Amino acid sequence: MTASGSGTGPRDIEQLTVDRLPTSNAILERAKKVLLSSVVTGPFRAPKGVAFVKEAKGSKIWDVDGNEYVDITMAYGPLILGHSHPVAVEAIRSVCDKGTVYCIAHEAEVKMAELMVEAIPCAERITFANSGTEATLHAMRIARACTGKDKIAKFEGGYHGVHDYALVSSILADPTGPIEDPLSVPDNPGIPQGTVDQVLTLSYDTPESLDKIRKHKDELAAVIIEPVPSSYLVDMREFLQGLRDVTRECGVLLIFDEVISGFRLTYGGAQKYFGILPDMATYGKIIGGGLPAGAVAGTVEAMKPLITTGDALQDFQEKLLTIGTFSGNPLTMTVGRAVLQYLRDNPRIYEHINGLAARIKSEVHNFAEANGFDLRLIGLGSWFIPHFIPADPKNPRDLRDLADMIRQEILCQYMRYHGVYLPDLHTVFMSEAHTEEDADKVIEAFKASLVEMREDGHL
Ligand SMILES: Cc1ncc(COP(=O)(O)O)c(C=O)c1O
Repeated sequence: MTASGSGTGPRDIEQLTVDRLPTSNAILERAKKVLLSSVVTGPFRAPKGVAFVKEAKGSKIWDVDGNEYVDITMAYGPLILGHSHPVAVEAIRSVCDKGTVYCIAHEAEVKMAELMVEAIPCAERITFANSGTEATLHAMRIARACTGKDKIAKFEGGYHGVHDYALVSSILADPTGPIEDPLSVPDNPGIPQGTVDQVLTLSYDTPESLDKIRKHKDELAAVIIEPVPSSYLVDMREFLQGLRDVTRECGVLLIFDEVISGFRLTYGGAQKYFGILPDMATYGKIIGGGLPAGAVAGTVEAMKPLITTGDALQDFQEKLLTIGTFSGNPLTMTVGRAVLQYLRDNPRIYEHINGLAARIKSEVHNFAEANGFDLRLIGLGSWFIPHFIPADPKNPRDLRDLADMIRQEILCQYMRYHGVYLPDLHTVFMSEAHTEEDADKVIEAFKASLVEMREDGHL
């Protein structure tokens, strides 16, 4: 598949895309009448030409028009083994005719918690939820209950899901105020000002952030941070250590949001990789093995507001409850555990996925440099984001350039035209299912897309 048009003026990549999606186009028209987003379930607006997936297996997806893509979106991270991995499929089969939700105690939840406690350095106790959003919501509330203080500090550009506290100065908001002393602003309409006022916004990797924590220590319950920030995919080991030291010194809890990094950076997540122990950590994505899941892990000390007495009436009155109808359901617990056990028993997977990402980054960078393209694939381990910026970023605001975002969106169309499903304004994830041949295809698609984008006047 090649984008034609050379010799006859620039290609119209949008039109070329739309032309090969007739069945998808028809579904899109139906979707517009009943759904709200033009990409149906995703958060971002696809440029033009929405491909509807028919099926997925391993590293590939096929759309309803029969187009095949190497999928490097991987559902935004959960599919570390690829689509429909036999381990996950077999686990689903093993449980689906035995009941999928009970709201009554069952051993699968205990076994999953045992596995997570064994794997996660800070984990003495676990509570389950159904998404990363729920996990961070619970963790923040547990921190408030534990410390008796109300405010939560987070980082500008930090993404922790879509509850009210999380939607303050996240990656979805425009950065506001001085770089080292950002202001808290609501990401969207609908976030109460009272909630915004309870959030203190910090900047990654600056000494000013540590000072701000010291200054506000008497009102701060916790600091929450993605140890590998999705808006700034760099190694901040020293800063994380500084954060650990200052929060401990100030009696403020430290929460690592490991919804992406957990079981991806290494089996034990970012806290294992960096050797830094938070008080609590939040999980989602990979732990569900492809099904919806969330969890908070932490020390007994941090999670004591949740530890029940066994007396239901007393617990109702005195304890914080992180309850949810589907939380810890037997289907998710069984599938998630099967996938985590497989990861634990096959550490070569981490070498494989990190190696693929490293090769793609290095070959694309070499090509970009040799040919004068300002493309940087910024990331750590097995995930990265392409950015059109002239130099390595010095802070997250360097990655908030509108021209860069527009080019990223256009790049998606070219990449998809070349058979690689690059996610819109989001992260590329490698999985066990990706092969060296897939990596070759991704590299070639980047190269061809860059050349064609230049020919067509987009670069
Ligand atoms: C770091 C982080 N925290 C929280 C969330 C929210 O998770 P979910 O989409 O499952 O609600 C995400 C989702 O991408 C995330 O990347």
